[in-house]
Amino acid sequence: MSAEETLKQIAAEVSVCTDCALHKTRKKSVPGEGPADSEIMFIGEGPGVNENEQGRPFVGAAGNFLNQLLAQAGLKREDVWIGNVVKCRPPDNRDPLPEELAACDVYLERQIAAINPKIIVTLGRFSMGKFMPGAKISAVHGQMRKIGNRFVIPMFHPAAALHNVNIKPQILADFAKLPQLLDVARKELARMTPVQAAAEEPKEDPKQLSLF
Ligand code: URA
Ligand code: SF4
Repeated sequence: MSAEETLKQIAAEVSVCTDCALHKTRKKSVPGEGPADSEIMFIGEGPGVNENEQGRPFVGAAGNFLNQLLAQAGLKREDVWIGNVVKCRPPDNRDPLPEELAACDVYLERQIAAINPKIIVTLGRFSMGKFMPGAKISAVHGQMRKIGNRFVIPMFHPAAALHNVNIKPQILADFAKLPQLLDVARKELARMTPVQAAAEEPKEDPKQLSLF
């Protein structure tokens, strides 16, 4: 199956998924969207009210701000993959529960494997927590780390930045660094031999993270 077909298959499974309680209150599931060969994946938290209506990620106020941040970084929204750690809306925008995150993680794992991005940008603490358990967003935001054979950049959540005037300049500055970080990631990955890349694949230990 091609990566594109795999993503379609995952979206079809998500639309009928009943693996956690969030399926009971969803209108539309939000599997995520973007090209199957995206170099960058942006991973948020979960669908909000607008996303639940439309079945698409980041289409409300936070989405408008994300579009602005992407444009500022010289990225076209249609060139990157955008999705979430949970695919169905948590009622009243509450935090996703640990069992919901655990149940939904299989889909995100399969999406990452299919796309095989160079960079994963996490938006907010739930998505950061998947890759950097225990990290503090205030300490690590905007800093790229190599994890296995790709790079992860934790960013503040665009919605948090919209509601907090102190965070807004920080997220703007972090996104402004993206082109430069993408350059570093491309060069670093091109330098790695296939053998090195394979050897670095299954790395879960946060102690092995290198800080850029
Ligand atoms: N916030 C998120 O985390 N994800 C969305 O898709 C929309 C808002
Ligand atoms: Fe399934 Fe994920 Fe939706 Fe829960 S949030 S019902 S695990 S697709």
